[in-house]
Amino acid sequence: DTALYSGWDVATEETKVATTAPPPPPREIYRTDYAPLPFVVKNVRMNFDIRDGKTIVESELTIVPNVGVNVGDLILDGEADALTLLSISLDGIDLIEGIDYAIDGDALTLYSKTLLLPGDGASGGGDAGRKLKTRVEIVPETNTQLSGLYKSGKMYCTQCEAMGVRIEADADLYPILLGNGNKVDGGTVGGSEGKRHYATWSDPFPKPSYLFCIVAGNLGSVSSSYTTRPSGRVVHLEVFSEPENVSKLDHALTSLKKSMMWDEDTYGLEYDLDVYNIVAVSDFNMGAMENKGLNVFNTALTLADPKSATDSDYERIESVVGHEYFHNWTGNRVTCRDWFQLTLKEGLTVYRDQEFSGDMMNSHAVKRIEDVNALRARQFPEDAGPMSHPIRPESYISMDNFYTSTVYSKGAEVIRMYRTLLGKDGFRKGMDLYFKRHDGSAVTCDDFLSAMADANNADLAQFGLWYSTSGTPTVKYVTKYDESAKTFYLTLSQESNSAKPLHIPVAVGLLDKVSGEEVVPTKVLELKEKEQTFEFSGLDGNVLPSVLRGFSAPVKLVGSSVDEENDWAFLAANDSDGFNRWESGQKLYTSLIFQTMRGVQSESKTMEHVFNAFQRTLTLGTDDYSIQAYGLILPTESSMAEELDIVDPVSLHKARGDVKKLIARKFHSSIRAKYDELTSAMKSSGDEIKLDATSIGQRRLRNVLLDYLCSLKETAEEREAASKLAMNQFQTSCGMTDRYAALSCLVSMEGEQSVVDRRDEALQNFYHDAQGDALVIDKWFTVQAMADLPDALEKVKALVKHPDFTLTNPNRCRSLISVFSGNAAHFHADGGEGYKFLGEIIAKTDKLNPQLSSRIGGALIRWKRYSNERGSLMKMELQKLAEMKPISNDLFEVVSRGLK
Ligand code: ARG
Ligand code: ZN
Repeated sequence: DTALYSGWDVATEETKVATTAPPPPPREIYRTDYAPLPFVVKNVRMNFDIRDGKTIVESELTIVPNVGVNVGDLILDGEADALTLLSISLDGIDLIEGIDYAIDGDALTLYSKTLLLPGDGASGGGDAGRKLKTRVEIVPETNTQLSGLYKSGKMYCTQCEAMGVRIEADADLYPILLGNGNKVDGGTVGGSEGKRHYATWSDPFPKPSYLFCIVAGNLGSVSSSYTTRPSGRVVHLEVFSEPENVSKLDHALTSLKKSMMWDEDTYGLEYDLDVYNIVAVSDFNMGAMENKGLNVFNTALTLADPKSATDSDYERIESVVGHEYFHNWTGNRVTCRDWFQLTLKEGLTVYRDQEFSGDMMNSHAVKRIEDVNALRARQFPEDAGPMSHPIRPESYISMDNFYTSTVYSKGAEVIRMYRTLLGKDGFRKGMDLYFKRHDGSAVTCDDFLSAMADANNADLAQFGLWYSTSGTPTVKYVTKYDESAKTFYLTLSQESNSAKPLHIPVAVGLLDKVSGEEVVPTKVLELKEKEQTFEFSGLDGNVLPSVLRGFSAPVKLVGSSVDEENDWAFLAANDSDGFNRWESGQKLYTSLIFQTMRGVQSESKTMEHVFNAFQRTLTLGTDDYSIQAYGLILPTESSMAEELDIVDPVSLHKARGDVKKLIARKFHSSIRAKYDELTSAMKSSGDEIKLDATSIGQRRLRNVLLDYLCSLKETAEEREAASKLAMNQFQTSCGMTDRYAALSCLVSMEGEQSVVDRRDEALQNFYHDAQGDALVIDKWFTVQAMADLPDALEKVKALVKHPDFTLTNPNRCRSLISVFSGNAAHFHADGGEGYKFLGEIIAKTDKLNPQLSSRIGGALIRWKRYSNERGSLMKMELQKLAEMKPISNDLFEVVSRGLK
């Protein structure tokens, strides 16, 4: 089929070619330039001969003309400075450079005349195909980009966003050899060079090259089996890590089983191979990768025990294991035609993992609050800045830069809107048709939309605009009640970057304005025009609308009521929609924080609303502790910043802190009482760390309360009390969640010697207790990078010199550097020292790992939204980077977009 695209790495390693020519300037690739390849690779066989300092990769590609496509050359993408071509032959005959093929920079071009046999052509021909064999030499040991075959610790593994593979390596050092699919052969290799062995893996499912993977290492594992219910296939499940971490693999294994069961129950989708392997590696650029039958995971998203992982870590591991598993159908069996379609698999798979987590947590409201929080804190800013792009981008220089929260999280919101518009059954019908039509092929977002539309006889043409529209749309609403006609009018209007109006599902419910009772339950209004009025008749009295329930569309909602705050207060108290109840409270908090920031808060009405909402939430007699906790947390600085034209991070941070203190002071005794009540409830249920929703909720709530209590540190007395309380929780808790939360409070404490001593002692103990556990040490760096202290930057600079710090490990680098750039008040402190520090780190990192440097670089590109002073200092750092030579394509793209 036409699954291949010139944008694919047809094969990653074997096509890398050495050259001395200067690097060509970065090329921008456009979606509209898509063309099917003139040839198809029917089969790939690879042999990896792994030796210290030198790995030989042999590959044999079976190439046939792509029927119906114009004749043309075949271009294989490689990486010129990463590999040496040793030989290249076609059907056993060596090819000659300049006559049969050409090498130019990273491209190896095989002329069409070389590959075509007489009689071949656009109309078809030699079905058996021709065998192209290449041998190349690579050095995984020096590959710091962590892309292609590289070495992480003592293990070799791949990340190839590149059907049979044979791996050969030293048997003692690398006893485990893994590839995609099923293992079909293995054994020892005779010879004089010591003990070597090999394994041959074969994947019967055709796949794009990016799902290819091998691993060689000395690994420990846990294993189990799962029997699929539709057809009773017994699948061997195994999760691998370095031997010292095997005790932390059970959660991932359990999560895998839950995912397999969930996909059968929810979508009738069953696993299709006899084995499913997951390997955890410590050096990994992202979270995890869904390679067919052989997932590779960042250790941070695999390893967990209660002593080293927080509740959020547990949650994330379960959701990412689910995510990669769900890719087997949405990504692997049905894959993307080209990289512009990335959201086809990522948006859909994120939506699937969100629903899975909501089911596992038994609370979709909590999950929704978390997901919308993340969307607002990360995707909204991205979409309002220079890297803004539609969920299906139109062009890129480095595709790695487009694994974004827009493609992922907003992409998931778009899938959720299909579900909202078509209903649960309608959505399922669409999914069924999608798999029926496209199993085994490489398709586009349009194909997904057509399947949804056709299965439901729905017209989704207008809905398709979501794929090509960047930026966050705004929806405004205006209300009117006609007393005599007992009719309520809700007028919705929209504004977006799309020339034509979008198709927006707006879920609405109506509450009686007096009693707060719900008089009209949730209804999905379809906003399809620029402005539209919806009528609700037969009402008994005036009503208050609860608009955009469950956050039914990724938009900013703007009301027009003269007394908005009264409405929010009313909804915060009465709304039956859990999400909107929370949302209304957040709006009240935001309002008070903004007033505080502008210096207009004095005995205001807003304060009263906030106090009422806080008190009501604090005294709720519920055992839904997580909902309670989220209702008490103030909105994050990054999500509030999105509502401001020009952001002053220092005063925003101060205002948020002041409101926190105001609340803490006002409710000090009830917060403390609730804290103590939870402490004894938790004590009475024993020392064991339980991971059920109630236990997680109790910890979450208690830690929110601790944070309020520790915000009071005006006087020496208060500082003494706060640091003692946090220290006590730190010392008496055995789980990471509570210890980490206590440490987070302690790191921001200063003043009297006794207070400073407590802080430093806790940090030392935490480090010491980590006993070298890399993921815990990451947390030790993170917690300090987030500290709210006047010398925050100096502390971070000192930590860069700590023997445990390195730029070569992405987790470690992010744990200090990216986290600090998110510590807005200190990163943006006057003088621009934070920017300079970051600029220097980015420059160093770019030499090692471009994917990492361009990610970190994202913190500098939104200079336009800060004051001129800050903006020009940020821009200066961007300019320095832009002029740096050499610069990676990844960083070049981010920096040059940032300067536009
Ligand atoms: N496909 C992976 C996932 O979502 C992520 C891969 C990220 N790749 C990258 N080049 N940044 O599960
Ligand atoms: Zn994914």
